[in-house]
Amino acid sequence: MNKPNRLTVELSRALPPETSSAEAVAVGVFADEPHLPGAEILTASLLHACEQLVRGGEFKGEEDTSLLLRVAAGEEGETSGVARRLLLMGLGAHADFDADALRRAAGMCVREARDGHVSALHFVVPSEGLPVAPGMVRALAEGAHLGLYENDFYQTGDEGKETLERLNVVTSRGGDELGLELERARVVAESANWARRLADEPGASLPPREFARRAAEMAEEFGLTVESLDAGEIRALGLGGLAGIGQGSDEEPALIVLRYEPVGSSPEDELWAFVGKGITFDTGGISIKHGLDMYEMKSDMAGGAAVLGALRAAAQLRPRRRLAAIVPAAENMPSEKAIKPGDIVRTFAGFTLEVVDTDAEGRVVLADGIAYARRLGASRIVDLATLTGSIIVALGDHRAGLFANDDAWAAAVESAAARAGEPVWRMPVSDDYKKRIESPIADFKNYGGRPDATSAALLLSKFAGDTPWVHLDMAGPSWHTDPQPHAPQGATGWGVRTLVELMFGDSDA
Ligand code: BES
Ligand code: MN
Ligand code: ZN
Repeated sequence: MNKPNRLTVELSRALPPETSSAEAVAVGVFADEPHLPGAEILTASLLHACEQLVRGGEFKGEEDTSLLLRVAAGEEGETSGVARRLLLMGLGAHADFDADALRRAAGMCVREARDGHVSALHFVVPSEGLPVAPGMVRALAEGAHLGLYENDFYQTGDEGKETLERLNVVTSRGGDELGLELERARVVAESANWARRLADEPGASLPPREFARRAAEMAEEFGLTVESLDAGEIRALGLGGLAGIGQGSDEEPALIVLRYEPVGSSPEDELWAFVGKGITFDTGGISIKHGLDMYEMKSDMAGGAAVLGALRAAAQLRPRRRLAAIVPAAENMPSEKAIKPGDIVRTFAGFTLEVVDTDAEGRVVLADGIAYARRLGASRIVDLATLTGSIIVALGDHRAGLFANDDAWAAAVESAAARAGEPVWRMPVSDDYKKRIESPIADFKNYGGRPDATSAALLLSKFAGDTPWVHLDMAGPSWHTDPQPHAPQGATGWGVRTLVELMFGDSDA
């Protein structure tokens, strides 16, 4: 049931003189001139074969396209039928090519190679005669590790399935620092895949306490500190939002808390808190969802998984930052005990909150998660949440919405997200919208008549207070509704890469 991918990635300066039929050479092709970057790495016969295929129009180099084939590769004058396997990958137009395009192309290539029974892939790095930027090699390796992820943990009978075992990154234009990039890419992508796997788990296999157990197991493996709270502690401490949303389920809620302390840090050093929504299944509660709207809701803890995944990476990459990951985890269920529309909860921050719609549960549990982050002494907060359908209507699945109460902190997160290839779009936090969160009977209400992402963010901002805070509504990019060339249908692990970029950014915002 547990089939992790262990891809070995190595670096070399030249192609091996021969490749077996279980190996292939991956060559990038641009859609416009010059079509073949990095061609100096190829042998004369491989270059000739590539040129012929491109000139003949067999392969146009468009993004998201690839072609795996066998070419005759005897060197000039040889008549023997030496064959090489070649994997052409489309890189799109030069003008649109960047690290993210390479990450996607690499993901597509490893999937294509695996499906074509290739066990070792020699990947010629597109270089156009220039030194290869470290970030490009990192993106390439990340793409490869991410690309081999499959949600096949519950498929039986293919234990001995062939897979791509080795990726050889071939470039004559890189320095020794590229080796470090490969290692960092492995850690980051494996952590994203760890988060992804949790988000792909069916609701029944990952109730809050099991989510907490998996977090603790990971923390022990990598040396993070666990400070989680159980249902009794949640109630005793007064996290009424989390307790209220969790009360309808037989599965008790949990507040998962992991901490990372760099060597030599002191309790006075700044603490950054990453808060992630951890609804392990969102039925909507008494305000129940209908039909297919509910299926995806097994991944309503993707934000929680991402903040934990970010600490998993931190434990290995060791940034000089104190970090905490906080995940209010609950199952949102209708039952005789469930919270009802109109009920009022007393949150950890002390504000009372009228729960007008039990399907707007994310903001209720996050209110407590954010307040708890402040209680731990966080000087900066980022929350990640699959919070609203409305953000998907606004931004689609390519960008997450970014809401903030502090411009410098917003800029730091936005820039980290751009570097990570997980783009975000800034949205407003403004009291212009306050009517939607004002309650006639409590301090606030959780729903104001429209399911908009903006009033959800405004409500959260009241709990962040004057602590610099960024909210990422990641309902769109957390999930692929359809299979992609570089990824299967399902969870994406979105957010882990952004948080890792952020913790290494030199920003003191
Ligand atoms: N988890 C959902 C948001 C969501 C929807 C995530 C689709 C991913 C895909 C959230 O708890 C929710 O139900 N939001 C409602 C809020 C409404 C009832 C105010 C929504 O967006 O419709
Ligand atoms: Mn909901
Ligand atoms: Zn939800």
